[in-house]
Amino acid sequence: VSLGTADNLQPFADEEVLEAARTLGAASGMAASVPAILRTLRDSEFHGDRLASFILGEPVLVARVLRVANSAYYHQARRVASIERAIAVLGIDSVRAIATVAALDMLIDASCGRSALDFAAFRRHSIAAAVIARNLANVHDPQMAVDAFIAALLHDLGQVVQARLRPKGFAGLKRALGGAARPMTVAEIREIELRHVGATHEHCAELVFRDWNLPEALGVAVLFHHAPMAAPAAFRSLAALTHLGDAVHREDAEEGVRDFFGQESSALAQRWLGLTAEQLEKAAGAARGHGASWTADHG
Ligand SMILES: [Fe+2]
Ligand SMILES: [Fe+2]
Repeated sequence: VSLGTADNLQPFADEEVLEAARTLGAASGMAASVPAILRTLRDSEFHGDRLASFILGEPVLVARVLRVANSAYYHQARRVASIERAIAVLGIDSVRAIATVAALDMLIDASCGRSALDFAAFRRHSIAAAVIARNLANVHDPQMAVDAFIAALLHDLGQVVQARLRPKGFAGLKRALGGAARPMTVAEIREIELRHVGATHEHCAELVFRDWNLPEALGVAVLFHHAPMAAPAAFRSLAALTHLGDAVHREDAEEGVRDFFGQESSALAQRWLGLTAEQLEKAAGAARGHGASWTADHG
């Protein structure tokens, strides 16, 4: 047993995770809590005027939506100066997505500081996974598009919790994963996570989602994002979409990130959802454009 790091000896207690999670996003400058904002953004009751007036109540969201609406990506001839206009020109789905990414940023920014987590890369990956998952949901079942976006955007949130609770252990975990000579299985990753930080990132995220009262479907999708076929049948499709958002982006990324989690679960998820390779490729392409715009407009 290595005693080299002071903070990797004890497994996480669930209470400890929740305590850390409750400080995420606390200093966000939003009127409502981040979980309340996420619940509202995924609520199908909130569309059109109701969604516009909800966003208008959050200056942070208004600023973000208008900044992205006026970015080069959307090449508008005239300035987009109101939320109503942003909804009219970008569409409700884009405005909802931009606001959801803003909520993620509140969580990440609040936990910045010295950490082995590369926040820029984490954010890029989260957004790309979300765009891919939403794109695939629109092919598979458009009703799932909003949840697919949110679940994929937050799928690795457990890493933020891990980095916060066990900074040194998390750095060791990153080194262990980065130094692997060959792709690792889910079981191997799990073992390394337990050894270095005391809890898997899936478990951390699911605890947090439950604490936030997010719908069960989102928690289950995140809990099973590396093994979607093991998810309960009712939530398997959302877990599969979340998984593919993650896996397709990792495969597509030019950063040399290896597919640690193996191709088999991805092939099974693809078959479960009835998606073709062309549809996966198209979704990856959509993420390249969106990722660029949202990454440039952060801050
Ligand atoms: Fe993950
Ligand atoms: Fe991921």
